[in-house]
Amino acid sequence: MQFCDGFNWGVSTASYQIEGAANVGGRGPSVWDMLCRKPGAVWNGQSGEEACDHYHRYKEDVALMKELGVKGYRFSIAWPRVMPEGKGAINEEGLAFYDRLVDELLAAGITPWCTLYHWDTPLALYHQGGWMNPDSPEWFADYTQAVVDRLSDRISHWFTLNEQQCFIGLGMLDGVHAPGDKLAFAEGLLAAHHSMKAHGRAVQVIRARSKTNAKVGMAPVAGLFYPDTESPADIEAARKGTFAVLKKDQWQQSWWMDPIMFGHYPEDGLKLFGADAPKVKPGDMEIIQQPLDFFGMNIYHSPRVKAGPDGNMEFVPRPVGAPLTAFRWPVEPECLYWGAKFYYERYKLPIVITENGLSNQDWIAQDGKVHDPQRIDFLHRHLLQLHRAYSEGVDVQGYFQWSLMDNFEWAEGYKERFGLIYVDYPTQKRIPKDSYHWYKEVIATNGASLELKQPAIR
Ligand code: FCB
Repeated sequence: MQFCDGFNWGVSTASYQIEGAANVGGRGPSVWDMLCRKPGAVWNGQSGEEACDHYHRYKEDVALMKELGVKGYRFSIAWPRVMPEGKGAINEEGLAFYDRLVDELLAAGITPWCTLYHWDTPLALYHQGGWMNPDSPEWFADYTQAVVDRLSDRISHWFTLNEQQCFIGLGMLDGVHAPGDKLAFAEGLLAAHHSMKAHGRAVQVIRARSKTNAKVGMAPVAGLFYPDTESPADIEAARKGTFAVLKKDQWQQSWWMDPIMFGHYPEDGLKLFGADAPKVKPGDMEIIQQPLDFFGMNIYHSPRVKAGPDGNMEFVPRPVGAPLTAFRWPVEPECLYWGAKFYYERYKLPIVITENGLSNQDWIAQDGKVHDPQRIDFLHRHLLQLHRAYSEGVDVQGYFQWSLMDNFEWAEGYKERFGLIYVDYPTQKRIPKDSYHWYKEVIATNGASLELKQPAIR
């Protein structure tokens, strides 16, 4: 049992969650710096001001990745580090940091996979309306140009936006992420529309200016429902439910993906959202629908459903005591098999898992090590499911585990530990967990080591 030749085994991180150095090197403030100052917004009043101090410790972190044997590293660039005001002047010191990071990665034989935007909107742009401003796609295009002009001789793998569902939905509708707004649904959909145009403009800029043969995708929340049994009725109910627009909230997947992949909003969504839907101007969809090279998917869990009497899905309640992560997210490894399969069938692009992992109650044991058997079991089960998709013909090209190391988990602060490497924040000491050593073996054998004698998954 192995994955395809050249499979992209990797790890993921994001700028605000690891870099720290928030006030160093000319970086401007972002909406997250603002939210972290708001009383009660983040667990224990914490912030990413220091985080993992990766800005200063990137060499050590790249060395740990090299030792782990990853082929690729998915990281994000902080827009306010490159453009402190969000537009206009470029901060040379900011770009120089990413220069150093990329050079270090390449010297270690690791391919950089760069996310252009992982939620750190420059605060100055928020003061001009942020994603509500119709100019925001052009702001993003200009920022993308600055990055591409500087780094595309060495970076050829790009993601435009990370999880629009979260930075628009959690950030602008629910108010639990930055910028912390609770806007009307219609305003959220307008901001969403602008972010889709920003995605499209960024793809155009990358294609037009890259100095190497660029491969471009995005990294959305790949939400889904998965079938309780493999009866055709259950599978069809789950598949249909996954791409149907059923509610007025941000978790309706086809609303986000169809414009980008098919060039139009889904009919059922237009009907349900009615006057709340944004007015699509001539030319908008041509910008939004740009050819992509792979489909990035962030997947952590998904609900199980079965076909009801009318063929539509019904939720199957989880048994009492079913496994939960430390974040209280359900453990549902099947989401990786069905997610890869459903999205591949619908959008017909090679699949790259851009995030998958869990928060676990890790600490340093008396022997000085960090033992995390739950993470090993979680990743093992998920990778077996991903392999099943691959072995049945889904073109799965990569898996980026979230995350290289423990980091600032947004509104949850440092409470959640997602890393393969433990970070002792007071000393910034890194301790590879047991799962790091386990993942190293998986990578070295291209997945063959997963084939140990395993108890049946269900
Ligand atoms: C995703 C985010 C990522 C991280 C994980 C746990 O939604 O993209 O930054 O917080 O969840």
